[in-house]
Amino acid sequence: MKRAARLLSLAPPRQSPRQISITQKLQLRAFTTPPPPPTPKTANMPPPKSAPHEFRRLAAHYPWTATPLIVQAPMKQLSGPALAVAVSEAGGLGFIGPGASPADLRAHLADALRLASRSKRLAAHLAGEQVLPVGFGVQTWAGDLALTASILREAAASGAPPPCAVWLFAPRRGHLELAAWTRGVRAASPRTRVWVQAASALDAFALSHAGEDAPDVLVLQGADAGGHSRVRGAGVGTLLPEVADALSSTYSRMPLVAAGGIADARGVAAMLSLGASGVAMGTRFLASAEADVAPGYQQAVLDGHDGGQATVRTQLYNHLRGTTDWPPEYDARGLVNASWRDFEAGVPFDDVKARHDEALKRGDQAWGAEEGRAATYAGTAVGLVKEVKPAARIVKEVRDGVKAVLRQTLEDLDMDKM
Ligand SMILES: Cc1cc2nc3c(=O)[nH]c(=O)nc-3n(C[C@H](O)[C@H](O)[C@H](O)COP(=O)(O)O)c2cc1C
Repeated sequence: MKRAARLLSLAPPRQSPRQISITQKLQLRAFTTPPPPPTPKTANMPPPKSAPHEFRRLAAHYPWTATPLIVQAPMKQLSGPALAVAVSEAGGLGFIGPGASPADLRAHLADALRLASRSKRLAAHLAGEQVLPVGFGVQTWAGDLALTASILREAAASGAPPPCAVWLFAPRRGHLELAAWTRGVRAASPRTRVWVQAASALDAFALSHAGEDAPDVLVLQGADAGGHSRVRGAGVGTLLPEVADALSSTYSRMPLVAAGGIADARGVAAMLSLGASGVAMGTRFLASAEADVAPGYQQAVLDGHDGGQATVRTQLYNHLRGTTDWPPEYDARGLVNASWRDFEAGVPFDDVKARHDEALKRGDQAWGAEEGRAATYAGTAVGLVKEVKPAARIVKEVRDGVKAVLRQTLEDLDMDKM
């Protein structure tokens, strides 16, 4: 109780009664409407679209990719053009993070175009498909739609190919905000596909039935994910099949991408079995050579193990970084360190913050489970991340391992029969 009260005292100012009633209406409409009961199959109806069908549809949008599709999730300032292009060059799909401010998109797209033009594999697609083979991420609550649309229009006017996808996440005003972004991006850049990351089955269902405002791809984010997610979340192992069932019961065609806690071929094989058309990884790519991450941060990720114990979901690290206005439905998963332990032990927030700010002056020593104090956003998969590798190697190893994992599983099952 005491801790909850202290966290509440750090919360952003309460909304005005008018804002609260709008938010409540949106939540009622978009977040609490139960899905209709499954549509019964009859002889006259086409069979539900199967996961492999969506699998191929997703791959067809991004012809430089290989199956299964490995996606590098956008990570704020930690996934820049170099990482995104390296992932796409290896036959995956990389997303540039939202950066420090929405205006960063202009330079990021120019850098990505320059890097992609140097790659043999991607240059062919730049010329043929006329899309930039990387996407970009937006946290819509902190985004600037007018500016983003004008950057996309500006790029198009200069003859630059449009980014192949935008990844929308974390609206403050629910689905209406996502719909406005979906329409705005499509109007400014018709060949940019819209991806939305959702962490609840009802959100996913509502999004997929939003008619013209429905995204092209749904990313389902499980509670193991590093960085921000819904305070109330489910593991992707239940979220994904529940959404897949709900969508197939209404004959909805929507490729699903699984995220949260996936770091190797075994995780990908499991997600494909559960109905995913591709997977997105964030934490694994924190330990890539191209990530824009401090060596101390990267080392802390490598050192992490037993992810459920080594990481925690909290608002504390947001507040230590001076960000107090995240929508209240979201918190973030990061590595437990001295800041968290002090706060848990009852040290007043101002003192924890003073120690945190002081630690930031110590370079790479600011990170680490024992003495570290800086926010280290990472998911429970840290225990599976043991080595920094070039992003291309991560993509290839994970992708190439999937068939071997599935084959081995089938062989084991067959042996069981003997
Ligand atoms: C350091 C970090 C920063 C992140 N920043 C963003 C972001 O800016 N936008 C976003 O949509 N998701 C962000 N995420 C969440 C990812 O989209 C994704 O859900 C998550 O990384 C998947 O789980 P995993 O980390 O276990 O692979 C971030 C994740 C991490 C680890």
